[in-house]
Amino acid sequence: MEFRWHRKDLLSLYDLSREEIEYILDTAEEFKKVSERNVKKVPALRGKTVVNFFVEPSTRTRISFELAEQRLSADIINVAVDASSLKKGETLLDTVRNIEALQVDLLVMRHRATGAQNFIAQNVRCGVINAGDGAHSHPTQALLDIFTIRQRKGRVAGLNVTIVGDILHSRVARSNIWGLLKLGARVTLAGPATLVPREFEKVGVRVCHNLRDALRDADVVNLLRIQHERQTAGFFPSVNEYARFFGLNQETFQYLRPDALVMHPGPINRDVELDSAVADGPNSVILEQVTNGLAVRMAVLFLVAGCGNK
Ligand code: CP
Repeated sequence: MEFRWHRKDLLSLYDLSREEIEYILDTAEEFKKVSERNVKKVPALRGKTVVNFFVEPSTRTRISFELAEQRLSADIINVAVDASSLKKGETLLDTVRNIEALQVDLLVMRHRATGAQNFIAQNVRCGVINAGDGAHSHPTQALLDIFTIRQRKGRVAGLNVTIVGDILHSRVARSNIWGLLKLGARVTLAGPATLVPREFEKVGVRVCHNLRDALRDADVVNLLRIQHERQTAGFFPSVNEYARFFGLNQETFQYLRPDALVMHPGPINRDVELDSAVADGPNSVILEQVTNGLAVRMAVLFLVAGCGNK
């Protein structure tokens, strides 16, 4: 039986089946070809209106969504949050309902509050795509990470993927964990015990507090940023100490397999979680992740807009 996409929103990879994740990745493969053509545009979202509503800073996700929408020929509105009536005290829901009243089809939203997009999605008719909520979920980042792994390694099932860093505050880690486990990868989380508590083992991942042990046998290592903006307590003595014990540098890199992929969702704290020589070295696929993000976001926009079933 042919697979049919049926979701109004994309909020989390936790909600998706393996089949749905693979369908997005397969659709992204097709859209990647569009960006490799001379004319990098298709009419798939012609006549649809997409609003980009980022209530938290972003470079990669915001630009990549906007470019994806342009490539799909959508009409685009970028909400300037600092100049919006949110600043006058209008509620988030009132703001979004007023945006929706303009016959908008899709809302791409980032918010610092966990669950903000789920709440909005339950209260509007238009499709909602989560571009990152608090420390909870960043589904398109995980999809582009997994897409990159699948393209480079030819599969995801059976691979050893190590995620290093501030797992506690990371929506990227949570989304990667759900996506990777659903596709059959083995996931190791590494970092200090304060940022990688043993509770994570309950979802079926390995927790490791020694970086060198976590790097051996890894097919992929994904370094995460220390998120100073979400930390309210001292989780490690100093940035220097963190870099010494958990940074991927030229010394710790030697523990990896020669063909291991080095990934980072960005933005990088250079020479903290990741040494510049490794970030810019031959095993790094960090900029490839960014390139693939465009194809993945084109696929997500296309499917959530309801175009994938026509
Ligand atoms: N990876 C990521 O979400 O980057 P931005 O915050 O720049 O969008």
